[in-house]
Amino acid sequence: MTDKPTTSLTIRRPDDWHLHLRDGAMLRAVLPETARHFGRAIIMPNLMPPVVTAADASAYRARIMAALPADMSFTPLMTLYLTEDTDPADVAAAHANGIATAVKLYPAGATTNSASGVRDFEKVRPVLEKMAEIGMPLCIHGEVTHSDVDIFDREAVFIDKILKPIRKKNPDLRIVMEHVTTLDAVDYVRDQPKNLAATITTHHLIINRNHILAGGIRPHYYCLPVAKREQHRVALVQAAVSGDKRFFLGTDSAPHTDPNKLQACGCAGVFSASNTMSCLAEVFEAADALDKLEAFTSLNGPRFYGLSASDEAMTLTRGEPVTYPSHIATGDGPVTVFDPGFPLHWRVAD
Ligand code: NCD
Ligand code: ZN
Repeated sequence: MTDKPTTSLTIRRPDDWHLHLRDGAMLRAVLPETARHFGRAIIMPNLMPPVVTAADASAYRARIMAALPADMSFTPLMTLYLTEDTDPADVAAAHANGIATAVKLYPAGATTNSASGVRDFEKVRPVLEKMAEIGMPLCIHGEVTHSDVDIFDREAVFIDKILKPIRKKNPDLRIVMEHVTTLDAVDYVRDQPKNLAATITTHHLIINRNHILAGGIRPHYYCLPVAKREQHRVALVQAAVSGDKRFFLGTDSAPHTDPNKLQACGCAGVFSASNTMSCLAEVFEAADALDKLEAFTSLNGPRFYGLSASDEAMTLTRGEPVTYPSHIATGDGPVTVFDPGFPLHWRVAD
């Protein structure tokens, strides 16, 4: 006798532990795409200019709340962009007042709007020590940026050259290695008994580097960190579906307009806010792990951040394939929605 296939799944309302909302017209267009499904999100601070101080974060949070449609509920969890001039006292005050949940470390030049990031790690030592003392997490874009390191090796080199020394100097600092893309990162996180977790994006569970490059170049799959070989994607899926509390969803949904993606030097970023839950259900079902979806999207993240899981519920139902618009319209131009390349049978019930 075979088990009846699951056709309905109810989980706690998910959160997104790494999200780009931008500002202005783009913010107004993309925010509902996230708020429709997600209760909270860690909001990336890489605006132009970046969100550096408590005052910047407070003002940005107000702009997000002003852009939220009246019939939607959503809580933005703000981050501060770490610079070599960041004041430890401002960070501590932002944390104590509930203005900022975490600090974001971009190595200078690693990705979109990261020019103000950190070059000399010695300069940010006092901030990191203060954060360890008050239990404030550091979210890390884990790629080195030297031109002599191959782009496909930048995450693995970052772990050896930057992350390990930071953790050695400051073992009490709580760190999220964001959007991990390699077996190396998964193994490293699994090896650490405490104070280290990792987010995994929707698209890195689905695409490998062939999707970007084989049979024609597909800019909508180009993001940073860049997708790696298939063996790495498989390792990410294994980590995500394992239920291991150190791995949770951070979509890294990062909207750029099509004109900004489709050019000789196009922007990095995949926009997946609209269809992430359908994509993830498909991935977890294929791995025979639908029972672990809730841990990945709704339980492990709040646990690491010391927050309660949502007390709202979300139901996903399986049926005929659901389609999402290929683009969303924004005041800045169209933004292409992530195409997983396979039919999506799971929809979020209203
Ligand atoms: C992000 C963006 O566009 O802001 N792009 C991306 O490819 N993920 C920046 C980032 O998180 O690296
Ligand atoms: Zn990002």
